[in-house]
Amino acid sequence: MIQNYLNLEVQIGTADQISEKRSTLIKIINKQENLNALGLSDSLKSQVFSAFEKETDQVFLNYAQQTEIIVISTQNGLEDWRCLGGNVTNLLQTNKIETAIIVEFDGSEEQKNAFLEGMILSSYIFEKYLKKQKAFKIMVTISDSAITAKSLKDLQSLTTSVGMVRTMVNEPLNKLNALSFSSLAEAMAEKFGFETKVLHQEEIKKLKMGGLLGVNQGSETPATFNIFTHKPANAVNEKPLVLVGKGVMFDTGGYSVKVGGNMVGMKADMAGGAAVLGTVAALAMNEIPYYVIGLVPATDNMISGKALVVDDIITMMDGTTVEVLNTDAEGRLVLADALTYAKKFNPQLVIDMATLTGASAAITGTFGVAMAGNSQENMDKLMVAGDTVYERLVQLPFWKEYEKLLKSNVADLKNIGGPIGGATTAGKFLEHFTDYPWIHLDIAGASYLENKDSDYKQQGASAVGVRLIYQFIQNELAKNV
Ligand code: BES
Ligand code: ZN
Ligand code: ZN
Repeated sequence: MIQNYLNLEVQIGTADQISEKRSTLIKIINKQENLNALGLSDSLKSQVFSAFEKETDQVFLNYAQQTEIIVISTQNGLEDWRCLGGNVTNLLQTNKIETAIIVEFDGSEEQKNAFLEGMILSSYIFEKYLKKQKAFKIMVTISDSAITAKSLKDLQSLTTSVGMVRTMVNEPLNKLNALSFSSLAEAMAEKFGFETKVLHQEEIKKLKMGGLLGVNQGSETPATFNIFTHKPANAVNEKPLVLVGKGVMFDTGGYSVKVGGNMVGMKADMAGGAAVLGTVAALAMNEIPYYVIGLVPATDNMISGKALVVDDIITMMDGTTVEVLNTDAEGRLVLADALTYAKKFNPQLVIDMATLTGASAAITGTFGVAMAGNSQENMDKLMVAGDTVYERLVQLPFWKEYEKLLKSNVADLKNIGGPIGGATTAGKFLEHFTDYPWIHLDIAGASYLENKDSDYKQQGASAVGVRLIYQFIQNELAKNV
């Protein structure tokens, strides 16, 4: 089983635990009038008041009378609260504090949940391959009517999924390939209560998934096609939401080989697939009454005497022929077959998530996700969810003129669109294989953070997409009651 590597747990406290003062006390204050009651030393008092005056969120450690953490929250946005939570965890970690109790907690229910979310997410550490490990477990106790056993369990399942997805993406190819990804998905299905079906090479051949087979043909490891089902009896939707994730376990570029350091980090080219698996797991853990199917075509993109070369023409599952002019544009080839496969579910909506293009990363940086699709209504809804969880979306131009850039002289399509609009033409390629409401998310920028750790956002895999889709579904369910 994959580890979530979260090192902080939140528990709901009893009166005994709360009155037991040996733990570090955390006081989160967002109203100036509540500052006086804190009984701070003069020096700390002036700092705390000045943070308030300047409206800067800040975290203070007070060793004066007892070990105490004062959190000054001056902003309302949920992301501000997540960051504060993250900063508190970072402070607990640097000061090797193992137990803490939240004794004062100003803020709304949503803000409190966001704070705890930031606290938990920030405790993730991927250090399993280090001889010398620094992680230790932190226990935070809280007694607050806004935090119920149910809300805490929901948060724990979601953050656990995020942690597992981050680990999957952080694992290199020699630790997680298409076959072991599928075994992991089977184990997760068993543990968390959803269904996983894995199609292996022979079945993939029978389905004539020429895109997936083409990308895989240079590899020593056979491809897998993974189908996850979360279909609770009380689901509010009849037709499923289908999530499709790019599962390129490593992308060398193939014969259009990645050069000049561009190959480094391509273990994360399965971030979309991992996010799909993690999202379905979170929905199952929390018994969310929403019918969702996840599809992940998984393979690596490698070179051998058998690999695709440029100029090759392949036939996709739906019969479309594709002239492969760049073997590094492999994501769209594997996704196309998954999008074709999605048709059989008569989906209400299909959302694909893929580390598809450098061009998308050039637009968003690590700060957001590029989006395109054929259903403006659903894209607008997803945008709202993105703002809530701070996995923000920006819409790509998607005019029909871009389609012409994919015209080939010898096949129905070519797999690259030329020098302009790389993120859009990749989306247009995918659109060819859809006949249902559909949204494409290019997560190439946000899926892996090279920046150094800050607040709850740490270097490495981000698991972008999991909280986004989970929130989108929460919003859909809220509409239904
Ligand atoms: N996996 C890459 C995209 C990528 C780049 C993800 C950087 C994360 C960070 C994808 O398979 C790829 O190589 N795309 C090509 C497409 C091009 C050949 C049309 C690209 O973006 O260069
Ligand atoms: Zn590629
Ligand atoms: Zn790729």
